[in-house]
Amino acid sequence: MKTADKSVYFDNASTSFPKAPGVGHAMAEYLDTRGCNVGRGNYKWGYEVAETVYKTRKKLCKLFQFNQGSDPSKNVIFTSSVTEGLNLVIKGLLKPGDHVLVSSMEHNAVMRPLYFLEQQGIAISVMPCDIQGKLQLDKIEPLIQKNTKAIIMTHGSNVCGSVLPIEKVAEICGKHQLKFVVDSAQTAGIFPINMAETSIDGLCFTGHKGLLGPQGIGGVIMKDDLAEQITSLVQGGTGSRSESFEMPDFLPDKFESGTLNIPGIYGLSKALDYLQEKGLGSILNMEMELTQRLISGIQSIENLDLIGIPDINNRSAVVSIVSVKKDNAQVAFELDQSYGIMTRVGLHCAPLAHKTLGTYPQGTIRLSLGHFNTSEEVDYCLNALNEITK
Ligand SMILES: Cc1ncc(COP(=O)(O)O)c(C=O)c1O
Repeated sequence: MKTADKSVYFDNASTSFPKAPGVGHAMAEYLDTRGCNVGRGNYKWGYEVAETVYKTRKKLCKLFQFNQGSDPSKNVIFTSSVTEGLNLVIKGLLKPGDHVLVSSMEHNAVMRPLYFLEQQGIAISVMPCDIQGKLQLDKIEPLIQKNTKAIIMTHGSNVCGSVLPIEKVAEICGKHQLKFVVDSAQTAGIFPINMAETSIDGLCFTGHKGLLGPQGIGGVIMKDDLAEQITSLVQGGTGSRSESFEMPDFLPDKFESGTLNIPGIYGLSKALDYLQEKGLGSILNMEMELTQRLISGIQSIENLDLIGIPDINNRSAVVSIVSVKKDNAQVAFELDQSYGIMTRVGLHCAPLAHKTLGTYPQGTIRLSLGHFNTSEEVDYCLNALNEITK
């Protein structure tokens, strides 16, 4: 087997690489020149760092067009990841006897906390998607029961890239007075999400994928009404109301115990500036051009099956394939060893999605692109796939 002298990163659905320009520098600069805490000491540096944290919340509100109340930035709750954000909302909101709907494309970040709560008496129904990962909207309303409290749903599949119609689901939630919680892990920073137009009660995001920031920072943008209904996941010091053993009841302190990931926030802040400058429209266009090229090429390779939507309508740059003759893992191994192409193989933490797509239990090879990838890299990968599978 030949060895690779190139490196091609096609695992952006796992975490994006490269990060936005300047992210690493912004984090190092904070650690090297300030490094102090927020909301604890009363001194100049602390105020400066607090200002950056505040501005980062504001940038997130701007990105997702969240404009509730006179200071929407307080509704941005920082967590370590979208997984923690989803756990906060799911475990804080749902009580025994409640019923919840999810799509059949969910990641385990939604399914595992729900499964955990199922053992304690909450009920789950699955809104079906078709074999291409498209949500079947007409099947949703018959699933709603008297005790249905919320729809919790991914915006984009991390397996096959289908983008689910959150606007339409938000309307259904509004009609039936259900809370709507969205996992934006695969779409934030690439697809526009407009919380002013789409009634989302809790938007869970992660900083290290399409937002092009570092790992270890994520959060939830939460409407007041949802925030009032949920209890905190973690209790501890907030720097505020120190006299009380009770958690503060105001945002964001109610849900932000312990020191924040401040280096992560500095990195995310820099990444948000880049997204603002570049524009989501241009990022999406670049990703879709590459995706079209990849999908068309895959469709002409005899021993490969493309999974999911066969064009670029309502899909992201997450592309799954199945090797017909050779084992998927062997193909992914050869892509890496002989060509330096980094992909992911298996179930991608989303067994329910694979059951929907007909790829359970063997899984898929996932090629996930970012706008920093190039058409040359796509062609190089198509050539490699041709050689490996012929
Ligand atoms: C749809 C979806 N939800 C949740 C997650 C979890 O993201 P994180 O590891 O940042 O919490 C992922 C990551 O792969 C994902 O693709």
